[in-house]
Amino acid sequence: MLGSTQPTIHTGADHDMSKPKVFVTRAIPEAGLAMVREVAEAKVWSEQLPPPKSVIIEEVRKCEGLLSLLTDTIDTEVMEAGENLKVISNYAVGYNNIDVQAATERGIYVGNTPGVLTDTTADMAWALLMAAGRRIVEGDNYVRALKWKTWEPQLLLGTDVCEATLGIVGLGRIGQAVARRAQGFDMRILYYDMVRNEEIEKSLGVEFVQLDDLLRQSDFVSLHCPLTDETTHLIGAREFELMGPESYLINTSRGPVVDEAALYEALRDNKIRGAGLDVTEVEPIPDDSPLLKLDNLVICPHIASASFKTRNKMATMAAENLVAGLQGKPLPNCVNPDAVP
Ligand code: DGY
Repeated sequence: MLGSTQPTIHTGADHDMSKPKVFVTRAIPEAGLAMVREVAEAKVWSEQLPPPKSVIIEEVRKCEGLLSLLTDTIDTEVMEAGENLKVISNYAVGYNNIDVQAATERGIYVGNTPGVLTDTTADMAWALLMAAGRRIVEGDNYVRALKWKTWEPQLLLGTDVCEATLGIVGLGRIGQAVARRAQGFDMRILYYDMVRNEEIEKSLGVEFVQLDDLLRQSDFVSLHCPLTDETTHLIGAREFELMGPESYLINTSRGPVVDEAALYEALRDNKIRGAGLDVTEVEPIPDDSPLLKLDNLVICPHIASASFKTRNKMATMAAENLVAGLQGKPLPNCVNPDAVP
């Protein structure tokens, strides 16, 4: 039932009172749900849109475990309601939707799903980079609009990816996986990260530079940093000026890392040549966003990890974290192991 908030649809709740109760905020792949149901009485919100916060609060009152998505804001208010909450397992590697400090203070473990989505996300960054550089979506639209009349010497000219310079902002797992893809395209690879890693520099053939230098020198800038206070609007008007009119911005990290109003102006005024986004400041992007009118933007609905295989792996990983937390065992992937239940 699209758009409705009622009723909550429960699937698989088997009313076994001996089992701990958990709330799963969306129908994740069955591989994970089955594991959860083995050990817990699971209530699953199975609508397309996320449960309203009031529903999450109501549900966590009765629960020991919560399996959340990046669309759920899990803050102090939710945790106060969840007096018996032992574990919050996020179905994502990012966990900026959760107030981890508040969880730690309350002795609630928080789990995430790192590693399994690295290559799938790097593939998506690469697809956006290629699509923006070689104008794939514009070409597709052109053909479907029946504008293809002949081969033209100057039709839809783009930018070579091969031998271009790539600037990776954030050389974590996903940033490194993107660098590996760039090797195959004979690119010069620059990176900026808060922590320099000379070992990885050698093994991947990447050069560390300061952010401003990376922006000045790169043809393609790809963002792979987490969303924190420091990275919010890391890329704005000043940074687009540094990037220059032949460059592209690719963002598969989190939308607010980019100042979207500044991005719009940079794309509109050709201060940069193009962009590929899988994430936006507000998700879903508002219907009236001016970005949607631009041809030099390729945009997707936060699907970087969306392959059958990876979403299944994320589901089992999130389930493993949830089950471990319910059973008082260490979470296989815990972001706050210092929490004391
Ligand atoms: C994540 O895991 O953080 C991605 O944004 C969605 O898979």
